Order: sequence, then C-alpha cells, then structure tokens
Amino acid sequence: MSSWSYDETKTLIRAVQLAPSVHNSQPWSLELSKHDALLFERRDITLPYHDPTGRDRLLSCGTALANLELAVRELGWRAETSLSGDSSLSDWVGTVTASTPQPATATEHAWYEAIPRRRSYRLPFNRDGLSADEIKVVIAAAEVDGVSTQLVAGQDEIHALAGLVEYATNVYRHDHAYQRELAGWITRRHNRRVRTGIPQERLGPGLRFGGLVRPNNPAPDAEVIAESISRETVLVFLSERDSRREHVLAGAALQRAWLSATALGLAASVVTQPLHLSEVRGRLADALELPGRPHALLRVGRPTWPIPAAPRRSAQEIAEPRYLEGLS
Ligand SMILES: Cc1cc2nc3c(=O)[nH]c(=O)nc-3n(C[C@H](O)[C@H](O)[C@H](O)COP(=O)(O)O)c2cc1C
Repeated sequence: MSSWSYDETKTLIRAVQLAPSVHNSQPWSLELSKHDALLFERRDITLPYHDPTGRDRLLSCGTALANLELAVRELGWRAETSLSGDSSLSDWVGTVTASTPQPATATEHAWYEAIPRRRSYRLPFNRDGLSADEIKVVIAAAEVDGVSTQLVAGQDEIHALAGLVEYATNVYRHDHAYQRELAGWITRRHNRRVRTGIPQERLGPGLRFGGLVRPNNPAPDAEVIAESISRETVLVFLSERDSRREHVLAGAALQRAWLSATALGLAASVVTQPLHLSEVRGRLADALELPGRPHALLRVGRPTWPIPAAPRRSAQEIAEPRYLEGLS
C-alpha cells in the first residue's frame, strides 16, 4: 500500500477516539506513518489514588489497540500487531501494520460496527439473563494470547465476590483523597466543553455491583450485592503476571468481548475499582482459584434503556495535526 489515505486516517483516529478508558481519561496518542499506526501511552495522565500503578491506563491502551486492529481490518488490510516489551522506559504501546489486502470477516465487520454503539451500561440489566450460547460467543471473542477469561459461576464464587465488593465499597466511601480525585473526573452539565471524564448523570445513584463508589452511595450488605451479581453474567480477565504487555493484552481482550456483546445487542460495563485494593485482588484470585492475576471484571446483560455517548477528545488531541485538517 502507499501511505494511509485521508479517509483511512479518519477511520483509524475515530476508532481510537471511541475506545473506553479508565475515568474516560483517553490516555493515548496515535502516530501514523506509511503502513503503520503507532499507539502511545500518555503517562502525563495519572490517577494516583484510583490507579497508582498505571494498570488501568495500560488496559485502556489495550482497548484502543483492539479498536485500531479492527479499523485496519475494516479498511481491508491484514493487520499485523507488534507490541512493546515490558520495558517501562518507553511509552510506545504497540504498532498495527497494514500489510497485504485482505477483506474483514463478517465477525470483524460486526465488531467494528459495534465500536460507536458500545457504551458503559451502569444500570441494572433486564431480568432475562444471557443464553449459554451468548456467553460462549462473548468468551470466545476475548481469546487473546496470554489472557484468560473466567466466568464467575456458582453461589460460592458469587458470594465471595459480593463480600469483596462490600469491603471495597466501605473502603472507598470513606477515603477522602480518593473521592477528591474521582470528583475531579466527574463532569457536570454546565461544563460540557470538557472532553474527558464521566458525565455525572452517567454514574446514576450507584449500583450494588459495578459503577464507581462515591461518598453518598448506598452501602448494601454482601447478601444484597450477591443477589445483584447472580442476575448478571460476570467475566474476569486475568493473566499469569503483572507485566506491561499483559495489561495491554488484557485490555484488548476486554474490548473484544465488549464489542462482541454489543454486536449481539447486549450491554456491558467494566469494573476495576475494587481490584485496585491489593487485598481484594489477592482474595478474589484465591476464592475463584484464578490461574493468574485478575485485571478487570465485565458485567454483561440485556439493556433496558438507551445510554448516550460519553464525550471524547478531539482528533487533534490524539493524533498529529498534519493528518487532520477538517476533522473534529
Ligand atoms: C480499564 C478500564 C477500567 C474501568 N473501570 C471502571 C470502573 O471501575 N467502574 C466504572 O463504572 N467504569 C469503569 N470503566 C468505564 C469507563 O469509565 C468508561 O469507559 C468511560 O467513562 C467512557 O464511557 P463509555 O465506556 O460509555 O464510552 C473502566 C474502563 C476501562 C477501559
């Protein structure tokens, strides 16, 4: 191929722009050269209380990388991805190279089409749960080398998770520094020129499981939380170690599962907040006998309400201005 065309450039930037990210911080930038799309982590965007190690920032870059791969496939190119190693010296995350012409499969096309429709669905789901086939499809979509996906199944696991969510809720409700940081990422209606952060109304009154804990959230006990979880499909994304590379891959797996759920007409939301307490993360791994470190939970179900899109940074903030005249 020659260099990316203007329309291809727009498609690639749009796909990255729409990826989900921790607190909608969109911690990435994109560089395009000839056949390559290079994704970088923006380490200037930090969440010292919510995400002190930057794990969620890398998971977020992984979701953007998954979208970028799908966009290259949608444009009709074979997508070859090279990932950065584990050196924390570089902020380069990975490069997707368009090699030879190859049309997208029907599944890839359906996932690509789901990119602008995907939302964080932080409401209770419809009571009809997922079928076994739907669960299988979503788990299969998350197949990424080095990452495993495990379903939370059975009363013991549900109760173990519920107990940990109750514990984390109580810790976060009373952590003033944490809450100050979170408040800075919640945007009010009068401040809608801000292109990052979570619109206040999107957080709602607080779920029993999922969402983000704020000081005024109700603090239900573990029994009530377990009852909520048992009505949802909950997937855990994990990998053997805590490496930079595995965090990016876990983010990519998470996004693929989320897009496949969206393509099926389902809704989902990510929960990582409790896993930022090391004692919760460790106890969850023990209780669920996870063969690795849990990075994120995805709750999946059937939507009952449409959800508006969260804001996004402009194309100019993500990619080099020389590519972008006329884009917003
Ligand atoms: C790595 C990661 C961690 C997240 N953690 C949470 C979480 O703990 N609770 C929550 O309600 N949303 C969480 N989210 C969802 C983001 O807040 C959401 O993607 C962002 O606000 C953009 O909204 P959208 O997903 O509707 O596009 C997370 C997303 C990512 C990618």
